[in-house]
Amino acid sequence: MDWLDFGFRSNPYDSSELPASEVGHKLLVGRDAQLRQLKEQLKSSANVVAVEGAYGVGKSSLIAVAQHALEEEFPMGRGQQLFLSASKPFQLQTDTGPTAFRHEVLYSVANALTTHRERLREAGLANSGIETIGRWLTAPEVRGKGGGLTTPFGGGTFNMTSGPNTSDGFKQEGFPERVEACLRECFPSRQQGGVICVIDNLEVLDLSSTRTLLEQIRDPLLRKAGLCWVLCGAPRTVRDAASSQRLHGIVRTPIEIGPIEAPFVGEVVGRRLEVYAQEDSNYTPVEPDGFLRLYGAVNRHLREALVACERYSEWLDAREDWPESPADKSQLLRKWLALEADNHLSATRDPGDRAWRLFDELAQEPDGIASSSDFRALGFKSPDAMLKEMQELQMANLAGPAMGEDPSRDETIEMTPQGRMVRIARLGIEKVF
Ligand SMILES: Nc1ncnc2c1ncn2[C@@H]1O[C@H](COP(=O)(O)OP(=O)(O)OP(=O)(O)O)[C@@H](O)[C@H]1O
Ligand SMILES: [Mg+2]
Repeated sequence: MDWLDFGFRSNPYDSSELPASEVGHKLLVGRDAQLRQLKEQLKSSANVVAVEGAYGVGKSSLIAVAQHALEEEFPMGRGQQLFLSASKPFQLQTDTGPTAFRHEVLYSVANALTTHRERLREAGLANSGIETIGRWLTAPEVRGKGGGLTTPFGGGTFNMTSGPNTSDGFKQEGFPERVEACLRECFPSRQQGGVICVIDNLEVLDLSSTRTLLEQIRDPLLRKAGLCWVLCGAPRTVRDAASSQRLHGIVRTPIEIGPIEAPFVGEVVGRRLEVYAQEDSNYTPVEPDGFLRLYGAVNRHLREALVACERYSEWLDAREDWPESPADKSQLLRKWLALEADNHLSATRDPGDRAWRLFDELAQEPDGIASSSDFRALGFKSPDAMLKEMQELQMANLAGPAMGEDPSRDETIEMTPQGRMVRIARLGIEKVF
């Protein structure tokens, strides 16, 4: 869809995380306290900082904006700390080993140090190691005798399987150690600042794999001078993973991110409309007030509310008549939401009467979460009887394992985005919008 049709430079309802930039900072609403807290913790503590919150609530956005804000503070900030950031958050994966992960991180750190060498110099933190690393990162592949590759250091030939300036080639020639030494020299303590590294989406791995990996990288990465770590994931994921003996005292109590509070919700869209408006005459498909209602209808799921706005805008774009008055706009949005909810309901595989009854109970819960330990309150004779219906709901894609739960246990479920749309159809639009 062309947003210029509506007079916007780009999609004001974009549901990707906010960028680590001035614009991202401007678009972040309702998070002043958490932003302050996150920045303070990064500045003051040698420990690993943590952020937890539900799916799509705004964790990655908050961290990105905090990184940008910290980078921008130099040289104005107290104590003149200089913060740099690895270019993007890291993720732990099933096949991630501690050694490969260390290389990935140090490669990214090497890039950050060389990209910002001017700022480091300005701060009096630069050292000759940065130039060496810079030469290495930008060195073209040079084939030497015997098919080996020459490296910019010493000019010897080595049997590398990849170019020196790739992350694969990087692990050879003791480069990780050079980067560590350089980092240590630049940032001997947190007083000088450091390179912020984020591990995002901790919930993608099961608890024991996450914990094992974190334990393995504790000394080589989490406690390395010059690195400032942020761990981020679904509720309880960081806390649970960090609760082992080896990690005790290393990770701070997570900063919890809840849904944006009602008074700020309209602003989410309000600020984007300002930033992305192309010209004076533009047409806003969903106004801040409509967004607040939509946000309520999808149980305060920020990303889902934004996705719904985008879909509504596409639907509207294909229509001839665009409502003008705020009341008419709101009326049409409501009509679309009811249609969309009905469509989701008709596309849902019937999970059976008992499962529907459980779904309707779930629909009444403010967070849409149910646990098999509540079987009695939910009208079941045993946890097993309830588990059976929970599985039916999962097979119909109306519910899934609750974020941060061990998926193999399946004992706590929450509504899926599909479930939240079906909920609107089951409850009736008048109840939710
Ligand atoms: N404080 C905020 N102000 C305005 N928009 C926000 C805010 N927080 C998040 N958003 C928007 O909400 C959407 C979801 O944010 P984000 O991706 O940061 O959430 P998340 O918690 O990291 O999600 P996930 O659990 O999927 O990783 C994005 O479109 C983002 O731009
Ligand atoms: Mg995220």
